[in-house]
Amino acid sequence: MKKICLVLLGLCGMLTTLPAQVRNEFLLEKNWKFTREDNPEFVNPSFNDSKWQSVTVPHDWAIYGPFSAQNDKQDVAIAQDGQKEAMEHAGRTGGLPFVGVGWYRTQFDVPQFAPGKRAFILFDGAMSQANVYINGEKVGYWPYGYNSFHFDITKYLKPGEKNTLAVRLENLPESSRWYPGAGLYRNVHVIVTEDAHIPVWGTYVTTPEVNKQFAKINVQTKVELPEGADLSKYSLVTSIWNPNKQKLTETTTSLSQLPYNNGSVNQEFIVRTPTLWSPDMPALYVAEARLYESTALKDIYSTPFGIRSIEIIPEKGFFLNGEKTVFKGVCNHHDLGPLGAAVNDAAIRRQIRILKDMGCNAIRTSHNMPAPELVKACDEMGMMLMAESFDEWNVAKCKNGYNLLFDEWVEKDLVNLIHNFRNNPSVVMWCIGNEVPNQWNEGDCKIAKRLQDICHREDPTRPVTQGMDAPDAVVNNNFAAVMDVAGFNYRPQLYKVNYKKLPQGIILGSETASTVSSRGVYKFPVERKAMAVYDDNQSSSYDVEHCSWSNLPEDDFIQHEDLPYCIGEFVWTGFDYLGEPTPYYTNWPSHSSLFGIIDLAGIPKDRYYLYRSHWNKAERTLHILPHWTWSGREGETTPVFVYTNYPSAELFINGKSQGKRTKDLSIGIDSSYTDAAKAAFERQKRYRLMWMDTKYEPGTLKVVAYDKDGNAVAEEEVHTAGKPHHIELTADRKQLTADGKDLSFINVRVVDKDGNLCPNDTRQIKFEVRGAGSYHAAANGNSASLESFQAPHMKLFSGQLTAIVQTSEQPGIIFFEASAPGVKGAKIELISK
Ligand code: GAL
Repeated sequence: MKKICLVLLGLCGMLTTLPAQVRNEFLLEKNWKFTREDNPEFVNPSFNDSKWQSVTVPHDWAIYGPFSAQNDKQDVAIAQDGQKEAMEHAGRTGGLPFVGVGWYRTQFDVPQFAPGKRAFILFDGAMSQANVYINGEKVGYWPYGYNSFHFDITKYLKPGEKNTLAVRLENLPESSRWYPGAGLYRNVHVIVTEDAHIPVWGTYVTTPEVNKQFAKINVQTKVELPEGADLSKYSLVTSIWNPNKQKLTETTTSLSQLPYNNGSVNQEFIVRTPTLWSPDMPALYVAEARLYESTALKDIYSTPFGIRSIEIIPEKGFFLNGEKTVFKGVCNHHDLGPLGAAVNDAAIRRQIRILKDMGCNAIRTSHNMPAPELVKACDEMGMMLMAESFDEWNVAKCKNGYNLLFDEWVEKDLVNLIHNFRNNPSVVMWCIGNEVPNQWNEGDCKIAKRLQDICHREDPTRPVTQGMDAPDAVVNNNFAAVMDVAGFNYRPQLYKVNYKKLPQGIILGSETASTVSSRGVYKFPVERKAMAVYDDNQSSSYDVEHCSWSNLPEDDFIQHEDLPYCIGEFVWTGFDYLGEPTPYYTNWPSHSSLFGIIDLAGIPKDRYYLYRSHWNKAERTLHILPHWTWSGREGETTPVFVYTNYPSAELFINGKSQGKRTKDLSIGIDSSYTDAAKAAFERQKRYRLMWMDTKYEPGTLKVVAYDKDGNAVAEEEVHTAGKPHHIELTADRKQLTADGKDLSFINVRVVDKDGNLCPNDTRQIKFEVRGAGSYHAAANGNSASLESFQAPHMKLFSGQLTAIVQTSEQPGIIFFEASAPGVKGAKIELISK
């Protein structure tokens, strides 16, 4: 049990006779028992669960496999994808065994709990249909697997005794369009307070005025008091702390105002010359509320927040702190590839680091409530968030999906999302739905308005959007018009005409591109194609293939660059995810997506550098594709693309110039989306440098980049790889925390004797970990590979994979070793403190 919050007397600086701690919060991580059996007996404290599997939470029961086409095989027609007749979709939800029942049990002490205290249990998310029992009694039920929820467990806990918590979860078949994960995949918190306390999610901090000179901070704090309490004896002392942990200001308010203020205390503060929160400067302040009964400290509750303003100005765009800001965003699912849905801070922060290096400034949590760890990391690292809620309302996309819950749960689910995250500065927009089939129905704009009104009621400071993929319907039935922000999924060619019909004066690309590619796989001839399928179940990394409803990255770039009312995009997707192997719907063993800019192993695909060249203005990008190891293609046309933010470059093959290419900035929106222009890659000429007729010969590809004055300023080379020679290892982090949770992601690749990647190598690599950590998982980004993520060996895909090592709680050195037949192995040491 880890103590997260420990409030000591010394902190409050007052003379009192209180016990040392007034609020205790800890996670239930260890000592869980788990089974896939189902029996009502499991709620009984006396039930003997010693034969069950021992697990730690967060835990995703399905990620251990085995993969099978039979797991949640869906014989359906996916209407959104234009399918008219039902067909087999084996890998749609990842081919992993998440369907069915799972039980978790744990016994825990709550030494801080005593008569007169209060206790709460908070689940950050439980997949799904959670029934919660303590000491044999039912505490509550929460069906939606992505949401956080909490229960008052004061009356169920036994002071001074062991308490038994049992949780029954159940996932229905055909309830999802992707891999949802399974189990207690997010953290479980126990919170113990005094009788007078600030409840879970009890504060709401807003910044109604923000400028360079000052910010006005409003803090509303809910307070719960014992029945019949004399309000005049209670006071709330709230202080504001700056990012350097210095106290700036403090206000004391008597609780006598409570009845006139909806059970909340309202306090205002002025902060002079505030440091404003932004992706470049993620400055966090803290509002610390202390509740007193006379001089006795009863509770202390800290709320990190940011000072920032957001505004949408018609015709002009989205403004953060008064500066026009275009969303350079990605949609991400919640799964963490080989870790499944089990939340992990190190894995989340690694994703954000990779995205930030690409120049990405925003994530859409498609299509559900995010994990608190993601929101916190975005606050701290500087990443805007569009926090989403649902993939369907009361009309089904999946027969057992959210439509079954909508009527009873939609308001409760939205309220929890908003109360959970309305203090987080990274969250800049709420999203009430994704391509909900209601969008087609006349009159269902009323549902959209109702859900948006709930968001406004709970948080009037943020705009609300939804992603709509039926542009013609939604601009004619008011579905788009009622939204603060009309979010369009795909069909950017219609932005211009729809903009004219809509009242908001702005357009958001809520979901864009859905370009498909497999890292390191190149298809010839290089042609723009929709829904192309190949025998190897891969898509071309020349970045020229997309879905029938979607397009290439440049078809979105051009809109958001040339149309002032376009406020940016969220690309489908940042990272590959489990499930939805489009276009390989029926092609088992495909079971994970090809949409990612970054693959399932977290390794950037070529497309990463295209986005980086366009989005990351601060760093230089000069990336060449394809690889240049094409035994058997000698003399054949093998185009070369360069993704760069230099305006022009010259390509050399074995020293022979192939000519200079310059980005054609004259290419505009109107003429460049005809069939002929698409086939001729007109728009690509504005953003990529392309040599379409180059012939392969082994040797060296060299590119020399020129600045706008024609000076040669940078160069890059790619060499034909020789014989595979040795393994090379690179860890994303070598200094780790000895907390039993921290992870290092190690890039494993086979190279020739000179260090050139062997891009076609698929040999199996064996891993061994000794010392202060253990082997955790691996992934290679091959969406058609059914290898176990947890076995300590895996095949390379296009010469690379990622192995993941986890620390133990013992500090020390972790020794990681990779070996394979035919090449020299490699070792790396990590330090865990
Ligand atoms: C969209 C949908 C996403 C994903 C994507 C694939 O229509 O919102 O969840 O399915 O298509 O292109």
